[in-house]
Amino acid sequence: MKELLHAVRISGLGYRYHDGTEALRGLDLVVHAGEKVCLAGPNGAGKSTLLLHMTGIIKGEGDVLVGGDVPKGAPSVFGLVFQDPEDQLFCPTVGDDVAFGPRNMKLPEIEVDRRVASALLAVGLEGFQSRSAHHLSGGEKKRAAIAAVLACEPEILALDEPWANLDVRSSRAVTDILRGHKGTFIVASQDLHRAAEVCERLVIIDGGAIVADGPMKELLADEELLEAHGLEFRKKCAKCEATKGDKKACA
Ligand SMILES: Nc1ncnc2c1ncn2[C@@H]1O[C@H](COP(=O)(O)OP(=O)(O)OP(=O)(O)O)[C@@H](O)[C@H]1O
Ligand SMILES: [Mg+2]
Repeated sequence: MKELLHAVRISGLGYRYHDGTEALRGLDLVVHAGEKVCLAGPNGAGKSTLLLHMTGIIKGEGDVLVGGDVPKGAPSVFGLVFQDPEDQLFCPTVGDDVAFGPRNMKLPEIEVDRRVASALLAVGLEGFQSRSAHHLSGGEKKRAAIAAVLACEPEILALDEPWANLDVRSSRAVTDILRGHKGTFIVASQDLHRAAEVCERLVIIDGGAIVADGPMKELLADEELLEAHGLEFRKKCAKCEATKGDKKACA
């Protein structure tokens, strides 16, 4: 595995969709190898658009380098779990969807089988191999999409809203996958409680630009900043475990 000093280096990135919507405005971001980063911000801030640039699927003005090179969509370098799993699952069966990346990487079939089994196990979808992705529940689709990316074992793992739509058990499974991921990862999420469990750095995006970037713990303590950008993080009460501000909380 080649060493990635700067997993991601983006400068002056601007992007306008075909209908004229300006999604990113001169955004700069460096993610170092091994960093665990959360991108947060209100709906429409530009988080998904930013992640799509890292895959090379869309290209705006400015410079984007991923793993030291322009993004070429190599699944072993950068793997993105899309916000909408429908964008990721297109094969007749879940097994084929999860095997798609490793097969594309021309891995031997025995290694493809190993990766598919291991990725499905990681997301709790063992036994789903011959099911049609179209007939899965929303949460199961999300887990299948995560498995499809895990099977490529990317050096940089990116997940767009990984906890959205998942039940508690599946959310914990995703958290555990991220905890166990040795390399760099970037998650776009509104769920700061889940993100705080696995990310050390928080980057807040609003209006297509970065408005705050720093250690997760420090930024979470800044209620005004979070409020200003449509985010919320309420600490759990040490005594009763309820979220402070809830009626249940003892203080
Ligand atoms: N395909 C598209 N065509 C036109 N505009 C788009 C398209 N996709 C996104 N946009 C617009 O670009 C802006 C950024 O959208 P983006 O999906 O990146 O936001 P986001 O931060 O991921 O939001 P969310 O929290 O809702 O996922 C928004 O104003 C959105 O309406
Ligand atoms: Mg999004």
